[in-house]
Amino acid sequence: MSLKKIETLKKRDDLYLPTGDLKKYANLSDKSIYRRANRNPLKFWEKEAKELKWSKKWTKVFSHHPPHFEWFSNGKINITENCLDENLKTRKNKVAFIWEPEPIDEQARKLTYGELFTKVNEFASGLKELGVKKGDKVGIYMPMIPEAIIAMLGVARIGAVHTVVFSAFSPQALKVRLQDTEAKVLITTDGYYRRGKIMDLKKNADTGLRGTKVEKVVVVKRVGNKVKMNKGKDFWWHELMLKHKSKIVKPVEMDSENLLFILYTSGSTGKPKGTCHVCGGYTVQARTTGKYIFDWKDSDIFWSTADLGWITGHTYSCYSPLLNGATFILYEGSLDFPEPDRWAQIIEKYKVTIFYTAPTAVRMFEKYGTDLVRKHNLDSLRLLGSVGEPIDEAAWEWYFREIGNSKCPILDTWWQTETGGILITSLPGIGPFKPTYTGLPLPGIRVDILDDKGKSVKPGQEGSLVIKPPFSPGLLRAVYKNPAKYLKTYWSEYGKKIYFTSDSAIKNKQGLIRIVGRMDDVIKIAGHRVTTGELESAISLLPDIVESAVIGRPDEIKGEVAVAFVVSKNTKKSQKAIQEEVIQQVRKEISPIASPKEVYIVQDLPKTRSGKIMRRILKKIFSGEELGDLSTLANPKTVDAIKKIIRGLP
Ligand code: PRX
Repeated sequence: MSLKKIETLKKRDDLYLPTGDLKKYANLSDKSIYRRANRNPLKFWEKEAKELKWSKKWTKVFSHHPPHFEWFSNGKINITENCLDENLKTRKNKVAFIWEPEPIDEQARKLTYGELFTKVNEFASGLKELGVKKGDKVGIYMPMIPEAIIAMLGVARIGAVHTVVFSAFSPQALKVRLQDTEAKVLITTDGYYRRGKIMDLKKNADTGLRGTKVEKVVVVKRVGNKVKMNKGKDFWWHELMLKHKSKIVKPVEMDSENLLFILYTSGSTGKPKGTCHVCGGYTVQARTTGKYIFDWKDSDIFWSTADLGWITGHTYSCYSPLLNGATFILYEGSLDFPEPDRWAQIIEKYKVTIFYTAPTAVRMFEKYGTDLVRKHNLDSLRLLGSVGEPIDEAAWEWYFREIGNSKCPILDTWWQTETGGILITSLPGIGPFKPTYTGLPLPGIRVDILDDKGKSVKPGQEGSLVIKPPFSPGLLRAVYKNPAKYLKTYWSEYGKKIYFTSDSAIKNKQGLIRIVGRMDDVIKIAGHRVTTGELESAISLLPDIVESAVIGRPDEIKGEVAVAFVVSKNTKKSQKAIQEEVIQQVRKEISPIASPKEVYIVQDLPKTRSGKIMRRILKKIFSGEELGDLSTLANPKTVDAIKKIIRGLP
C-alpha cells in the first residue's frame, strides 16, 4: 500500500474530525442540521420524503396511537419505481452493481440501471403469470447472485411481500418462516458455492417446503448440479424470463403503510419473530441514511459485505444504494476464499471507495496478518463502515490504520433488524469519530439512555438505550401475526411510547454513544443474531437430552460464541457422541452459523428453588468472575462439579 496520505481527518484529543476534501464534498457537513432536525424531526423527514417519487402525496407525516404509529399516511409509493424507473432518467447506462462470483475463474457480471430495470420487469411479469398478487408473500432462499436482487425487486414491483431466508439457514428454519408467512411461491437456486463446494440448495428447499403452503417454486440455475424438478410445481428461472422477455410491468401503487417485507430475526424460543417493514417509511429511511452516511457520489464504488438474508443486506446491499443511484459490489463468496486476502483483491480490482463490513471480518483479516493487506493497493478507499456488534479498540485501530491508511473515518453504525436502517453513527462530513463509540444519533432521531425507573442517566453511566417519538420512518410496525410479542418486546419496558432496543449503552459528555451489549438473551455470533432460548429449544428436541442451558462467551474473532451445557439421560453414549449430536442438531434446526463452540455434558444445571436455570452463574463460572452468594440455589454443589468439567478435571 502506498504511504501517500490525503488530509481528511484531524485528531483533537481522542477524537477524529473531518477536514479537507472529506468535509468539503460531504453530502452533509453543516452541524446545524442536528439542531434543526431535532427541533422538528417531522419537518426533516418530510423534506427527505419529498425527494422521492410518490404517486400520491401523504396527508399526514406522522400519527401515533401507541404502541402503533404511521409515517406518511395515505401516501402511495412503489420502492422499485424509485430504485429503477427514476434512475432510468439520468443513469440508464450507469452500473447499478457488479457481481463478483465466488469461483475466481468465472466472469464477473455488471448490470446497468437500464439492464436491471429490464430484468426486474421480466421477472415481475413472470411472477404475475405464476399467480402472485399484491399482498401475497413470496419466499426467497438464494445465495448472493444478481437474481436474488432481481427477485426482491420483482416481488416488490407487483406489490407482493418478500421474506428472504438466509441461504445457509437449514430446511427447518426455512419451513418455520414459510409456514408463518403462508408463502405460496418460493424462489431458490439449484445450488450455491460455499468455499469451493457445491451446496444443494434445491434439496434443502424441497425439504423445507414440506408442510408449507408453497405451490410454486422458481429455480435459478446457478451451479448446474442435477436437481429434481417437479412438473407443474417447479419452474426454471431462465425459461420464465425468456417467456416474459421485454415485458414491462407497471409498479403497483402501494400505500405507505402496506407491507414491503417481512424479515425474521431470532425469537426467545424456537420461533423467530417476523419484523414487518412498510413501503413508505422504509423507503425514505433507506434512501436518506445511505445518502448522508455513505455519502455517495457518482464516482463511488460501494461494497457492503452483508448477505441479502440479513437486514444489512436488504438495506445496504440492495435498496439504499439503488435508491441513491449508486454503484455497488455484490460478492457471492466468503471474504477469505480461496485466499485469505480475497476481500482485499476485490477492493483493489474494483477500486472500492466505501467498504462496509462487520468487526468479526476485521478481526479475521487482522489474524491473517498485516502483510497480506500490504500486498494490495487500497488507496481507493475513502470511508469505512462497521456494523452488527461492538468494535473493540484494537480492531478499530487496525481497521483505521491498516485498511484505511489512517485517512478514512470509521462509520460505526448502530441499528437493528427492527429499525430497518442505521440510527446511530457520526457522519463523514461532521464527525466526530472515536474508537468504540458508534457516534451521534442521526439528525431527527431522539435517543435516550434510561435507568430502571425510566430516568435519563448521567453522561458516563450505563443504562437502557431507547428511542423516543417520532422514532424513525423505517422502524418495524409489527411482529407478523404476533401483536402480543410486539407489545411485550418493544413497548413494555418503559411504556407504550418508548421503543426499547434491548441494548445497554453509555453516552459521553459530547453525546457520543457507546453500545455495551444486549440486555436480553441474544448473543452475537460473528455478528449474527441468535438467542440462547432458540438454541436450547433446538437442543431439547433431542430424545436423550433432559435439559440444556446455552450461554454466550467472548471469542477473539467471532466476538461471541455459544457454549451449551446439557444433561443427558443416555448413560451408554460417549461424551463425544453426545457433543456431536448436539452440534448437528443446531445445524439442522437452525444453521451452521449458530453451532455451539463447546458442549459440556453435566449431571445437573444450577437452579433456583423454583426450578429456574441460572445461566448467569454458568456465565460467571466461565469468565472466572466472583460467583457471589449461592445460597439461593437449590443445588449449589453442581457449581463445583461444572467448574471441574470445564477445566477438564476428573
Ligand atoms: O446489540 C446491537 C448489535 O446488534 C443488534 C441488532 O442485531 P441485528 O438485528 O442482527 O442487526 C444487526 C445489523 C443492523 C443490536 O441490538 N449492534 C448492531 N450494530 C452495532 C451493534 N452493537 C454495537 N455496535 C454496533 N455498531
